[in-house]
Amino acid sequence: MFFQPPLSSRYAQLSKAELRAGIQESKSRLGKRLVILGHHYQQDDVIAFADLTGDSLKLSQLAAEQTEAEHIVFCGVHFMAESADILSSDRQQVILPDLSAGCSMADMAHIDEAEEAWSFLAEAAGMPITPVTYVNSAATVKAFVGRHDGACCTSSNAKLVLKWALRGAKPNGDPHAGHKVIFLPDQHLGRNSAYALGWPLESMVLYDPKRPHGGLRPEQVREARFILWQGHCSVHQLFNLEQVEAIRAFDEPYQIIVHPECPWEVCQRADQVGSTEYIVKTIREAPEGSYWAVGTEIHLVGRLAATYPEKHVRSLADIQCLCTTMFRIDLQHLYWVLEQLAAGAVVNRVVVDEETKRWSRVALERMLKLRPDQPVSAK
Ligand code: 13P
Ligand code: SF4
Repeated sequence: MFFQPPLSSRYAQLSKAELRAGIQESKSRLGKRLVILGHHYQQDDVIAFADLTGDSLKLSQLAAEQTEAEHIVFCGVHFMAESADILSSDRQQVILPDLSAGCSMADMAHIDEAEEAWSFLAEAAGMPITPVTYVNSAATVKAFVGRHDGACCTSSNAKLVLKWALRGAKPNGDPHAGHKVIFLPDQHLGRNSAYALGWPLESMVLYDPKRPHGGLRPEQVREARFILWQGHCSVHQLFNLEQVEAIRAFDEPYQIIVHPECPWEVCQRADQVGSTEYIVKTIREAPEGSYWAVGTEIHLVGRLAATYPEKHVRSLADIQCLCTTMFRIDLQHLYWVLEQLAAGAVVNRVVVDEETKRWSRVALERMLKLRPDQPVSAK
């Protein structure tokens, strides 16, 4: 978790209209030297100023494509800004408006824990093992994966990356063929994606980084195909079967669409599973009058409901599933960083050190080179 010193009280005294006008003015002054990227979970006030929006995969691709802008202001969370720094050129600076916008899931896999897990698992596995990390992880963990011939994945390409990582191993195939996979840090994305590829739950074990040897015996590792890190998203963990059953009991013909960070049983009972970009596309293309219960962060659900009032979009949960860290990026912090940039000062730059950058870029580029041969839905 990074520390964000409090802003000057001047920003708290400005009205929304003044903040918006100030942001617009700084944006105009910076012109093409600035690009603002925004993740789908950002609040409406902030996303309104994004030049480009997307899910984690699209934003990594967009960050890598920015050649003109000197300043990339990333309205998202810390690991996304790190990925943008890794993939952009040395003359570009990546800025995160509030440094304390982290990700609780990324914080569940520390590099020291990953190294410790590797020294036990590589020995216990009895065959080669490929590490795969969800992009929702620290750059140091991405670099660890890059150094050990693994790759990153996002929620839109996890199945594709897993297939690559397995090196030809097939469910019901030769148990000694191909590689095993250790998947960090989201157990749910790992389990949902492996299961969607046809692997049974019995082929997966859970590695708890807080316990010696992850709480696993060497023979459990030897018998498993997937070692899933015991991490989760505190937002998507809030979706459960009770909510699914409640929606199913409604008279209206709701379709349930959820993010693959949701627990396995929720994904199994949903009609569709996919990344935020997949959810946006599905609802955009859905017929008027259709009914959607969406299992993902509340700002995206609210925006979809407001954008498509004729499509009856609601949250799967009746509690607010809010990503509190994404929510830290607000108009005041955005104005502050842009005002500083326009005055020639770079604040809140996110910089990944050269050695970490080198290997994490390897892991990210391995992922970006893979091309899908199947639809992106994780179900
Ligand atoms: P995607 O952007 O890949 O859909 O993931 C959602 C998320 O939790 C980002 O942190
Ligand atoms: Fe992390 Fe979950 Fe927030 Fe995504 S929604 S940034 S995984 S805490």
